[in-house]
Amino acid sequence: MSDKVISALNDQVKAEIYSAHLYLSMSAYFHSIDMAGAGNWMRIQYQEELFHAHKLFDYIIERGGRAKLAAIDEPPAEWKSPLDVFESALAHEKKVTAMIGNLLELARQEHDHATEIFLHWFINEQVEEEASASAIVQQFKQVGDSVNGTFMIDRELASRVYHPPVDAN
Ligand code: FEO
Repeated sequence: MSDKVISALNDQVKAEIYSAHLYLSMSAYFHSIDMAGAGNWMRIQYQEELFHAHKLFDYIIERGGRAKLAAIDEPPAEWKSPLDVFESALAHEKKVTAMIGNLLELARQEHDHATEIFLHWFINEQVEEEASASAIVQQFKQVGDSVNGTFMIDRELASRVYHPPVDAN
């Protein structure tokens, strides 16, 4: 792999670990406002992001590159409302989608076909990530300030369980 591709993949490892910390911080926020279901949802999102980071890390090593870790910025800790949290999550996922797109473009420029194919998994994953955050944003918008509605969403978010992707490698 070219140095440019290795460096960009390492930047993505950093971005995925930041994403993990962001969602764990969101989980802590939800627990602080007694929404354990949303706290659970975000905790699982944290695990998914760590999986993304590990997948990139393993790929760099598999291709003979040098995986490197960087300092991770502190994530925000407070939000205005549950809706605000999920809107922030959706905005964040859109940024990550753009990063993956740039990475794919770089792999193409460098004629790195293996990396291009490897990134297809992430392209598909981002479609799902944006769709799931977007669906929850819509739910919170629909219930507005309703305490009952918020409680119902929280109960639904409590049911999420972590499944490592089957096509993990
Ligand atoms: Fe790893 Fe949520 O993108």
